[in-house]
Amino acid sequence: QRLAILLSGRGSNMVALVNAVQNGVLRELAEVAVVFSNHPEAPGLATAANLGCPTASLSSQGRKRAEFDAEVVELLRGYQPDYLVLAGYMRILSPVFIRAFAGRILNIHPADTHQHQGLHAYEWAFENQLPETKITVHLVDEGLDTGPVLAQRPVDLRGANTLAEVEQRGLAVEHELYAETLVQLLVGQLKIEN
Ligand code: GRF
Repeated sequence: QRLAILLSGRGSNMVALVNAVQNGVLRELAEVAVVFSNHPEAPGLATAANLGCPTASLSSQGRKRAEFDAEVVELLRGYQPDYLVLAGYMRILSPVFIRAFAGRILNIHPADTHQHQGLHAYEWAFENQLPETKITVHLVDEGLDTGPVLAQRPVDLRGANTLAEVEQRGLAVEHELYAETLVQLLVGQLKIEN
C-alpha cells in the first residue's frame, strides 16, 4: 500500500517509518509514495530525499487554509496514496482535505488524546510531573487530535528529570508504535474505537 507522509519539521517519525518500509516491519507491506511538507525548508524534507524518497512541498505561508488544502489534495492525489500519515504536520486539516481521504489519514500525538490535545504535550507531561504519558495513533477528523484511537502505548516517565529526557523516551515509543500500528492497519487487524 502506498503511504504519503506529511511533515512540517524535523521528521524523526518519518525517518522511523521510512526505515520500517525499507528494512523493517513495513517491508513488503508498504511503500513511500511521497514525503510532503507545507514548509519547503523543513529539515525532514531533505532527510527524506537523502533516504531516497520522492518529496514534494507547497508553502502554506500566507495562504488561506481551504485553498491551500485543496491544492495539497490535488498534489497528493497525483501520488495515489492509500494512506496519509501525518508525522509532525503542524496544520489542522480543513474539511475538503478530510473528505478527500476520509478514514485514511493517521496522526501520532505524544499524549493520550482524551487528556491532551494540540501542541506542547511533552511540556504538559513534564510540568505536571506525570509518572506516565500515552502515545496515541489516531484517525484524523475535523477536530484537533480528536479522531478515533487506533493504538496507544504508555511511556514510563518516572525519574525523567528534564524535558529533553521526557521527549527522548516518548519519541522512542512514537517511532515503534507508528510503524507497528501501520502494520496492523495494513494487514487488517485493527479495531477502530471511539
Ligand atoms: C512528534 O512528537 C509527534 O508526535 C508530533 O509532532 C512531533 C513531530 O516530531 N505530532 P518529528 O518531526 O517526527 O521528529
